[in-house]
Amino acid sequence: MKTIIYNIGTLAGILPSDIKKLEGDAMNHVECINDAYLMIEDGIITEFGPQSDISSSLQEQTDEVGKSDNMIDAKGGFVMPCFCDSHTHIVYAGCRDGEFRDKIDGLSYEEIAARGGGILNSADLLHETSEDELYRQSMERVNEIARMGTGAVEIKSGYGLTVEDEIKMLRVIRRIKENSPLIVKSNFLGAHAVGRAYKGRQGEYVDLICNEMLPRVAEEKLADFVDVFCDKGFFTVEETDRILSEAAKYGIQGKIHANELDVSGGVQTGVRNKALSVDHLEKTTDEEINALRGSITMPTMLPGCSFFLGLPYGRAKDYIKSGLPVALASDYNPGSSPSGNMRFVMALGCIKMKLTPEQSFNACTINSAYAMGVSDMAGSITIGKTANIIITKKIPSLAFIPYSHQTPVIEKIILNGKEI
Ligand code: NIG
Ligand code: FE
Repeated sequence: MKTIIYNIGTLAGILPSDIKKLEGDAMNHVECINDAYLMIEDGIITEFGPQSDISSSLQEQTDEVGKSDNMIDAKGGFVMPCFCDSHTHIVYAGCRDGEFRDKIDGLSYEEIAARGGGILNSADLLHETSEDELYRQSMERVNEIARMGTGAVEIKSGYGLTVEDEIKMLRVIRRIKENSPLIVKSNFLGAHAVGRAYKGRQGEYVDLICNEMLPRVAEEKLADFVDVFCDKGFFTVEETDRILSEAAKYGIQGKIHANELDVSGGVQTGVRNKALSVDHLEKTTDEEINALRGSITMPTMLPGCSFFLGLPYGRAKDYIKSGLPVALASDYNPGSSPSGNMRFVMALGCIKMKLTPEQSFNACTINSAYAMGVSDMAGSITIGKTANIIITKKIPSLAFIPYSHQTPVIEKIILNGKEI
């Protein structure tokens, strides 16, 4: 089936198919065509260009608006790729609104975790929740982020922390992959915290990850990536090295939670292990920036987490000035970022990290697609990519999207070529 979107005020985010990420100055530009059309066939972008190029037969169809289901009038709005969210934890049970009160009362993220709250609190809730119920609760969030313009999402495990509960989470992620219209990648984060039963025996818990969890995960093909929370009070550089090299034996690439709470060495560990991304980076020095130069590893920042926990924002501008790429993601999770609104992330990129709207847009689309291994099918307007597209109301500029960040400007969301 063919769909033609016409009367596009601005078609934004056009890239050639060989571009998998944008680095340094290349992040400053967003390629656009004004007064454009875009054609979709079987869920794939097959053609686009200036409206004046629409062939006469298509023009006849556009003149018959309303007679055909697959003619979409963009009414002068922007058409752009859906956001890609390369870092979320949206499979979880219940919520942590009690800890929200503790936080308001002055407890830090680490203090809440040290008292047995935090990730372990979510692990307890998840343990008591059936797989079907977990799927139901998680799908609500998947649908929520789709309506806000996310077209590709990476989802981590890490609230199981036992063999069975980690597998339960990953099976739920697999069901989401099979049943939602989004592009979904799964990430095994058994090393999110030490499971309660292993308190004081962290080494044995890492043994469990390497000797029991990873083989099961690999056997059932449940994970596209493996992740480690390599930070103060969580997992060490040595443990991270071990888990990532063990995962590599199964062909599973690493990603790392690094430098959220401390200058943790996680960035260098990620680069050394050829991780696809190192994420958080609230606390980084020039050494981390230098370590990332020439690597395949995408520095990914999570401004929603900085916003919610009151942490410093990542030094995105410095990374870009050094010629590096930067991706932004939501970190949607119940403890440090209970929102998956990528438009708000894009706005925080501009307002708090001083990225230009173009830099922030590229960080939330093509670079975030790279950070979850889907930049060959998402993150830009490119022939051959999946038609996951946002149509906005008529707005004055790309900058209006983050500037007017609470104004509802999204008119339509198209996933796999179909309006949701
Ligand atoms: O990315 N930092 C570690 N993990 C999550 C938070 C998880 C939680 O608090 O539930 C994060 O911020
Ligand atoms: Fe996270």
